[in-house]
Amino acid sequence: MAYKTIIVEVDDHVALIKLNRPDALNALNSQLLEELGRALRDAEANEKVRCIVITGSEKAFAAGADIKEMSEKSFVDAFTSDLFGPESNAIERIRKPIIAAVSGYALGGGCELAMMCDFIIASDTAKFGQPEVNLGVLAGLGGTQRLTRFVGKSKSMEMHLTGRFMDAEEAERSGLVSRVVPAKKLMEEAMSAAQKITEKSLLSTMAVKEAVNRSYETTLREGTLHERRLFHALFASEDKAEGMSAFLDKREAQFRDK
Ligand code: CAA
Repeated sequence: MAYKTIIVEVDDHVALIKLNRPDALNALNSQLLEELGRALRDAEANEKVRCIVITGSEKAFAAGADIKEMSEKSFVDAFTSDLFGPESNAIERIRKPIIAAVSGYALGGGCELAMMCDFIIASDTAKFGQPEVNLGVLAGLGGTQRLTRFVGKSKSMEMHLTGRFMDAEEAERSGLVSRVVPAKKLMEEAMSAAQKITEKSLLSTMAVKEAVNRSYETTLREGTLHERRLFHALFASEDKAEGMSAFLDKREAQFRDK
């Protein structure tokens, strides 16, 4: 079914999902979150897709959850519908690698969406923030938990309590983004990173994602054991045999995801 709030293109094994509500700075309303969830599940199911890139416009990745839509909801509405519950977090269940390419504002739910991706490449114009406190609420899509894990308690607490924005340079310094690139080169850099990922075995990239994410959920001992078992499991793959033979033969590996 066609999308109204996002644009999806699949090319060269990369699904590019562009948030597209320019009049509202890509604010995340229920329609956009539903369409994004659907596009992500389609990309997960599409055998051609080996990496996903999510981006917005030059001015805004996303300026947060849609305030107009939220302003009409009561506690009962929010609680009974489990607003921003599992359906809005569909991205968490995607096992293929996802890159956020962020330009301009990534605020509130926009910052939270970027943090739910596997890594963030930011343009030098990017601004991150959790300004929900200015609206008499707090983050609702995981911001208090994820930002704290990315940048530490002090900076996360300050951002959430004051609502101040963090620029791209500070975001890189604090470990929120993997790197900052000039605004004009953002998509080129993000697609080139995605392309590199598509050249690997999907078995390896999915295992990497699972293992790194595990580090958020468990102890070091359990996490390293999980990593080691995945490592052992990949010894059963044809891609492990191919990757290691290719190295020894001094040629490029031809992975087949088997
Ligand atoms: N929801 C709905 N509409 C939004 C929006 C949002 N989060 N952010 C911007 N818009 C709309 C504006 O209302 C405006 O629409 P109109 O032209 O119809 O008036 C349009 O987008 C352009 O915005 P501005 O005129 O405000 O643009 P600006 O350049 O002056 O300011 C901005 C940009 C600083 C990002 C400002 O728009 C802003 O502060 N936005 C709200 C940011 C925010 O509070 N985000 C958190 C939302 S709550 C949340 O996300 C909860 C959660 O954790 C899940």
